[in-house]
Amino acid sequence: MVVSRPPMGWNSWNTFAANINEEIVKNMADVMAGEGYLEAGYEYLVIDDCWALRERDENGRMVPDPAKFPHGMKAVADYVHSKGLKFGIYSCVGNYTCAGFPGSYEYEFIDAATFAEWGVDFLKLDYCWKPRSAVGAQLYRRMALALDNCGRDILLSACSWGAEETHRWIKSTGAGMWRSTGDVFDTWSSIKDLYNVQKGIYEYNGQGCFNDMDMLIVGMFGKGHVGVEAGCTLEEYRTHFSIWSFFGSPLMMGSDIRGASDEIKSILLNKDVIALDQDPAYRMPYQVDCNQDVWARHMANGDIVIGIFNINDHDASFFIPFSELGLGRICGRGLRIRNLWTGEDWGLKKELITPFVKAHESLLLRCRVEEL
Ligand code: GLA
Repeated sequence: MVVSRPPMGWNSWNTFAANINEEIVKNMADVMAGEGYLEAGYEYLVIDDCWALRERDENGRMVPDPAKFPHGMKAVADYVHSKGLKFGIYSCVGNYTCAGFPGSYEYEFIDAATFAEWGVDFLKLDYCWKPRSAVGAQLYRRMALALDNCGRDILLSACSWGAEETHRWIKSTGAGMWRSTGDVFDTWSSIKDLYNVQKGIYEYNGQGCFNDMDMLIVGMFGKGHVGVEAGCTLEEYRTHFSIWSFFGSPLMMGSDIRGASDEIKSILLNKDVIALDQDPAYRMPYQVDCNQDVWARHMANGDIVIGIFNINDHDASFFIPFSELGLGRICGRGLRIRNLWTGEDWGLKKELITPFVKAHESLLLRCRVEEL
């Protein structure tokens, strides 16, 4: 399977963890299809860890926990598909999943066949309980091979948290996305940490296999499994979504989107910001000034997006000369600037801008090259 855009969807872990069940999955499918999420691009509905029984059956196959999924997984997949969505599930390269359920080690071909039979479209494959003697790259290649030969298109989402220098080998495996960071938590410091990790490996992101910065915490406000105290502020969630989109991360929502407020929806469903994430060229971002969190990315249609992420605890002004963005001094062109969060048109600017950004806030500016 060739993955040309960062995958988008919803994953059960951040909010529900072990409490996931058929009812909740159906609710989420209804909300995703009925409230504009699918239309905005969120197409995968993924069940994370804790869906299976602790033991395989007599044929070595994984068994969905009947208390949580009384009609089995095929019925769940059918429901998800009936809403126009794709269905994802979770396993692990090791003997057990991180929560201690059966992992796929030495069962890769059986599991791939089972998932294909159920109608699975996406497999998140974690990294817990890997036998010491086994090599991570080989285990991901094994499962990818099993998936490539199972008769169904199943996107492999590798989740080795960047261990064993994942970026050096992941593209040999067949994974369409890979977890480039440790686990996200619903805190401002977690957003900053994952951003800082990404700064060291963003060059490895690109079509075919996208750097996954982990599921979104937008809208959690401290509720759910990875929730901590009150979570983050609305502005911090906006900065989080800005960074993930700017760096072309998969956008996998993790909050309980049933009854999400209009403010949260205006983040998750912002078409312009999603278009940045999903830009068909996926050109690598570059840092405009190595001392500041000012970045640029050149879009497929000739626009430039400037991303300014004020992750510091004080308000600041940023200096952005257009000469750093490919506009030579006598090129006779300026930039017509639009703020992607407010929609505001800043007009046609010449030579430079010096925007002011409050602490923990961000600016995403889409710039059209125009003759002066
Ligand atoms: C690991 C992963 C998480 C989640 C849990 C499930 O920690 O990184 O994203 O899948 O396992 O147990």
